[in-house]
Amino acid sequence: MYRTHTCGELRLSHLGQEVTLAGWVQRLRKMGGMTFVDLRDRYGITQLVFDQGLQADLAEQANHLGREYVIQVQGVVRERESKNAKIATGDIEMVVNKLTLLNESALPPFTIEDKTDGGDDLRMQYRYLDLRRPCVRQNLELRHKLAFETRRYLDSQNFLEIETPFLIKSTPEGARDFVVPSRMNPGQFYALPQSPQQFKQLLMVAGFDRYFQIVKCFRDEDLRADRQPEFTQIDCEMSYADQEDVIQMFEGLMKHLFKTLKNIEFEGDFPRMTWEDAMKYYGSDKPDIRFGMKFVELKDLLPEGNFQVFDNAPYVGGICVPGCASYSRKQIDQLTDFVKRSQIGAQGLIWIKKDEQGQIKSSIDKFYTPEVIAALVERFGAANGDLMLIMCGQMRKTQKQLCALRLEVAEQLGLRNPSVYAPLWVVDFPLFEWDEETQRFYATHHPFTMPNPEDIPLLDSDQGKVRSWAYDCVINGVELGGGSVRIHDSELQARMFKLLGFTEEKALAQFGCIINAFKYGAPPHAGLAFGLDRIVSMFAELDSIRDCIAFPKNNAGRDVMIDAPSNIDDAQLEELCLTIQLPESK
Ligand code: AMO
Repeated sequence: MYRTHTCGELRLSHLGQEVTLAGWVQRLRKMGGMTFVDLRDRYGITQLVFDQGLQADLAEQANHLGREYVIQVQGVVRERESKNAKIATGDIEMVVNKLTLLNESALPPFTIEDKTDGGDDLRMQYRYLDLRRPCVRQNLELRHKLAFETRRYLDSQNFLEIETPFLIKSTPEGARDFVVPSRMNPGQFYALPQSPQQFKQLLMVAGFDRYFQIVKCFRDEDLRADRQPEFTQIDCEMSYADQEDVIQMFEGLMKHLFKTLKNIEFEGDFPRMTWEDAMKYYGSDKPDIRFGMKFVELKDLLPEGNFQVFDNAPYVGGICVPGCASYSRKQIDQLTDFVKRSQIGAQGLIWIKKDEQGQIKSSIDKFYTPEVIAALVERFGAANGDLMLIMCGQMRKTQKQLCALRLEVAEQLGLRNPSVYAPLWVVDFPLFEWDEETQRFYATHHPFTMPNPEDIPLLDSDQGKVRSWAYDCVINGVELGGGSVRIHDSELQARMFKLLGFTEEKALAQFGCIINAFKYGAPPHAGLAFGLDRIVSMFAELDSIRDCIAFPKNNAGRDVMIDAPSNIDDAQLEELCLTIQLPESK
């Protein structure tokens, strides 16, 4: 038996007991003839004591231990003189009477403690050591519990977990596919699924009624803090269900997760917001509603012929920042620089201040009468001490810029508190999205999404106005999940493909299987998928989903620990009938 207890287990109730522990040496301190060792395992840390005076040989042996050595110790539990309230075992220590070295360790490249001296790259290269750090391990423990509670909830609702294949045909999800060459079918490729979308719909045709899967998805897209090329979805589908059924069911899942993992209960239903309102008031389809500062539209209050910048802009809008009328010139200049950055691309920023005495001052005083400015202030509903920030230009573009400004100001004011959670459902997404570059419509969600039946007459006349039965679950400005009611009628599906620019042959070549399957009595069905990594990182208040993934990729899509991707042998290439031709620059 390697151990009788774990390193996180011993308490005052174990006083006097002879116990055996095994673990890693985190730290060693020598003090006045005593050697103290912090012994760590997954469950915690226990202080070991070696007394030079009592057992000189043993203490000498301990003095030669290095960081991360793996040892087994036998000894007796005693009360600590100076207790450590920061750790669960802080009331006791173990006086060691036998030490066995199980394995030595090379000097680790960084200290394996929550506060480490290792930089990002180094820790990724030695991820297996990074994972020994309690703060990283805890994220994975939370991830396990979240997956477990998800399964518990969905099982209680009659969902079956069914695996679907990874080697599939290209899925039309919008990102690039990762492809895998087939040796047995030379010149042909599998694609790794961007999601199991078609398979879960086929499972509904197959009569499984309620499906879920905690599943890896693969998308070859540029990485961001909330994006990895392989990530995990809680993927779900329900038959004989409409939008309301899906929203109820998965709001239930989110509430269950918040209750069991964070002990947070929400009162009533999550609010709902149409996509149109989300854009109008927050400039984003994933609004952060932990705080106010909703957009205010001003164009109709501005007489023409005074200020060319506003005259030329189809949209003028702004936000009212509470309590910031005292912002200095420099602070406003910094915000102006922020919105002028290339990623945001605004021309400038107009301000109005209503000071504590109610006096109004603005950067457009010389263009408009005090009455016009007063009307703007009134529209903002500004209180004494408020600062109003205004931007103008093309509507959607300016709304996006205002969104970036709103989030930046909120960040500066500490309004984006990660332990406050403000969920909502965004509904009524447009069915199609216009792409300027290719001058054609694309499916906003995917081509299987049901148009809102009220808008079906617009399909041929005003495509851009057609709303879909699609919905996103958004918390704190992060899209945690999304889904839709699916088209189950093959005629409507064929019409959709046509509207999306697919010829009949192309639609059949790409989606032949599902088009065929729908001929055999497809039930009405709907579903959604949550990003598991995003939920865990939000629950753990992490900045990036990388921190809750055991072995993540870096920003260049590389696993620096195993050094992937990498070249393959010529023999392998030959077997796959592949030749590599790199462009000059690479
Ligand atoms: P969607 O593409 O919206 O829908 O994805 C669902 C959820 O998956 C998460 N997600 C990601 N997480 C990390 N890294 C990524 N690269 C990444 N991409 C997406 C997000 C997102 O909300 N088949 C549909 C669902 C359906 O219609 O049922 C789908 O995949 O949290």
